[in-house]
Amino acid sequence: MRTIRALKNINTVRVYHCPPPPYVRPWSVEHSRSCSSSSAEKRMPANSMLRHLTSKIKSTGPISVAEYMREVLTNPVTGYYVQNDMLGPDGDFITSPEISQIFGELLGIWCLSEWMGAGKPGTFQLVELGPGRGSLTNDILRVFSQLRAVLGEAAVSLHLVEVSPKLSLIQAQCLSGNQSQVSACQDEPVYRRGTTSTGFPISWYRNLDDVPRGFSIYLAHEFFDALPIHKFQKTEKGWREVMVDVNPEEPGKLRFVIVPAPTMASTQLIQADEQRHHVEVCPEGGVIVQRLANRIAEEGGAALIADYGHDGTKADTFRGFKGHKLHDVLASPGSADLTADVDYSYLRKMAGATVACMGPISQRNFLKNMGIDTRLQVLLRNCADPSTRAQLIQSYDMLTNPLKMGERFQFFTMLNHSRLTRPQAKQPKVGEKMAPVPTKFPAPLPVAGFSELGLS
Ligand SMILES: C[S@@+](CC[C@H](N)C(=O)[O-])C[C@H]1O[C@@H](n2cnc3c(N)ncnc32)[C@H](O)[C@@H]1O
Repeated sequence: MRTIRALKNINTVRVYHCPPPPYVRPWSVEHSRSCSSSSAEKRMPANSMLRHLTSKIKSTGPISVAEYMREVLTNPVTGYYVQNDMLGPDGDFITSPEISQIFGELLGIWCLSEWMGAGKPGTFQLVELGPGRGSLTNDILRVFSQLRAVLGEAAVSLHLVEVSPKLSLIQAQCLSGNQSQVSACQDEPVYRRGTTSTGFPISWYRNLDDVPRGFSIYLAHEFFDALPIHKFQKTEKGWREVMVDVNPEEPGKLRFVIVPAPTMASTQLIQADEQRHHVEVCPEGGVIVQRLANRIAEEGGAALIADYGHDGTKADTFRGFKGHKLHDVLASPGSADLTADVDYSYLRKMAGATVACMGPISQRNFLKNMGIDTRLQVLLRNCADPSTRAQLIQSYDMLTNPLKMGERFQFFTMLNHSRLTRPQAKQPKVGEKMAPVPTKFPAPLPVAGFSELGLS
């Protein structure tokens, strides 16, 4: 609550070091990502990716959808994310942090609120998974800078987990000007380092495992939806895996096939009580959530995951985006984004009892609980330019309207258990008396975004 009140004093309308976002870009209501055709056409590796996949399938047989997705998106040479800057005016799609500065500012408040709720630890790592163009972290940094007094002497550092060298360069330009240095050795866990304009050290990693341990707030916005999924179909003979094969009738094309025998994935990844007839499972997402949960349980902190998602109810959500339209996921692989809705029920299961989980809650409710209406009013009050005012209102609508991004995007958090409980009396050592049960400890701060905060 205190921090929300403080945000009212930040009047800055985002000044872009990166190219400005396409606020007025046409938006397709049924697709949460909008695309521009230009870069999709410029993009080259499509044919070489198809050749690579075709020869792989011809030599070893059909590949899982997970392997297909991993190759198409993150193949180190020709992967879609590795090769392209797909976000922004010349890219393929746009995300909430690119649409409005308010989004990142409210997440900045969330990070501060969780750090305060944890008792203001002396070191504070902000870790973002899949940071895109760096806009979310940039907006969060502006909040940290304006609320420097709240952070006090805390040693803040930034840690970005990014698979794409191209995007890491764009992030570095956005967050640290041209001051970052690339590691001379390819195998270094930290492949780029820099300092933000606010003086915080910033490091880039390919894997979460390489991020130093310690109290951390983890953010993953539109990260889990890009991780590879396996697809399964219930048949008369039981669950069978859907795979990608070369189409024998059109050799230059790919097709889905249902393999006749169970695979390792179909025997291991389907829950015994599964009721759906078609299921997508993202084991890589499950492993990352388990690692996050272990870190949070052992070192303190919290994770905030925001993505297209559902709570174990949806079936076939695998899709591609290119040129403002849905794109056949098997056509010209490497030329379009591939994505699947995040199954939060699966993530919750994988997190287990190690951490406390909250959500999923819709983006609309999360942002409203965080005070987006008040924040919009403050910015409008301090902005006289009619076109900027119109952009602010339009982007607010995009983020919160249930027919646009308001309902499709869902927020989920994992917290250290101590965050939600009053401190307990210390257990006595052998021979000591039990200390009196504490009565004066304050109730824990509510978890911002997941419950309504008073905005007085
Ligand atoms: C859909 S973009 C989202 C970008 C940003 N979070 C936003 O909302 O604007 C996905 C991001 O995750 C990164 N990414 C995808 N797969 C990854 C992986 N396996 N490891 C690390 N980063 C990955 C991409 O390079 C990109 O930065």
